[in-house]
Amino acid sequence: MLSGRRILLIISGGIAAYKSLDLIRRLREQGAAVRCVLTESATQFVTPLSVAALSEHKVYQDLFSLTDEAEMGHIRLSREADLVVVAPASANLIAKMACGLADDLASTALLATDKPVLIAPAMNVFMWNHPATQGNVAALAARGVHRVGPGAGELACGEVGEGRMADVPEIMAAIGRLIGVLPPEAKPLAGRRAIVTSGPTHEPIDPVRFIANRSSGKQGHAVAAALHRLGAEVTLVSGPVTLPPPEGVEIVPVETAAQMLEACLAALPADIAVCAAAVADWRVSNPGAQKHKKTEGGGPPTIALTPNPDILATLSQPGELRPALVVGFAAETELLLQHASAKLARKGCDWIVANDVSPASGTFGGDQNAVHLLTPDTVEAWPRMGKELVAERLAERIAAHFAKPHPTTSEVPA
Ligand code: PMT
Repeated sequence: MLSGRRILLIISGGIAAYKSLDLIRRLREQGAAVRCVLTESATQFVTPLSVAALSEHKVYQDLFSLTDEAEMGHIRLSREADLVVVAPASANLIAKMACGLADDLASTALLATDKPVLIAPAMNVFMWNHPATQGNVAALAARGVHRVGPGAGELACGEVGEGRMADVPEIMAAIGRLIGVLPPEAKPLAGRRAIVTSGPTHEPIDPVRFIANRSSGKQGHAVAAALHRLGAEVTLVSGPVTLPPPEGVEIVPVETAAQMLEACLAALPADIAVCAAAVADWRVSNPGAQKHKKTEGGGPPTIALTPNPDILATLSQPGELRPALVVGFAAETELLLQHASAKLARKGCDWIVANDVSPASGTFGGDQNAVHLLTPDTVEAWPRMGKELVAERLAERIAAHFAKPHPTTSEVPA
């Protein structure tokens, strides 16, 4: 499939470098010519000899090697590839790329290349979540550098969270897409159906007044767009917002929680449900058929409330129609993680994205969000970033979840 394609693989220092040996083997099996550059720290994890044996090429390590420069200068090395892949991409090399540093062969080749670059980050979860790394990754993304992973799980350092280098099949798929040998429809969520809720609900008090909240729909709409970009067929059930529906997404406009639930149930079956809507917990028990009048000497009307159906909890109920992955959001003004993990357990969803919505946070209606992703076993703090980036990252995590082989019934321990 990759016959005649030339890949420059840059291996930087990290325990995940052992996976790069398998990557070289898989690339060679597919017919690609692979040239490898090792950083000095990479040689602590894999030997130049094993890399040379698997790639069947000389391994390049030194910027100032007279023989290397005579045979294949660093400029030629970086230009003669169809794609430059950095796997693993350490926090240090990512930082050098973001700053444009060129103090060794790897960083110099990356600065000199005119070819697409794909990075597969691998590092400790705190290093990955550090605002400096996130800023560097965002800067590279803005410059068109492609990224695959990282995934979440137990890390080599013993900590748990995001930072694992993407698995080799995932990196192979990303390479295939980038050099155009996989059709664009080979998107990781192609063939998956997703339901996303977004925006507020409006619960009528009478024909002219309603109970509502400050949700703008920005976060939910961004999630719908990001899932669509990864190939999912998305139904976006949205309360009243002023945003245009994202391109390629089926939009179902609703007003009340009851209508939102009905639209979500009508959109089943689905593989994925993401409930980002700020649904009113209560509705008016008996909304007036006519506008409440302010009568001379009369007091204010008494408004009785009834609980609304819980859409997230309903979609999470076990059964044939339950989406394989149900993700809720938790909007809190205090004790964020405590309340969010209680919601995760109470509502029966698989993951919950917790965000602070106190007025000082600017989350409602704003363009930025700082979230925590909670699963039953892990809590990850994501740095503050644009709502679109939050959505993109969540969609990638959802795609990685579906890419992982899940245990078959026979493999599940008794
Ligand atoms: O729309 P923006 O201005 O961009 O703001 C984004 C946001 C703050 C609205 C969004 O990021 C967010 O947090 N959405 C969830 C808001 C919310 O209602 O949270 P909650 O903690 O009250 O509810 C928990 C979960 O249950 C949510 O997934 C919610 O969609 C769901 N729910 C709640 C009540 C209900 N009756 N049905 C539900 O499905």
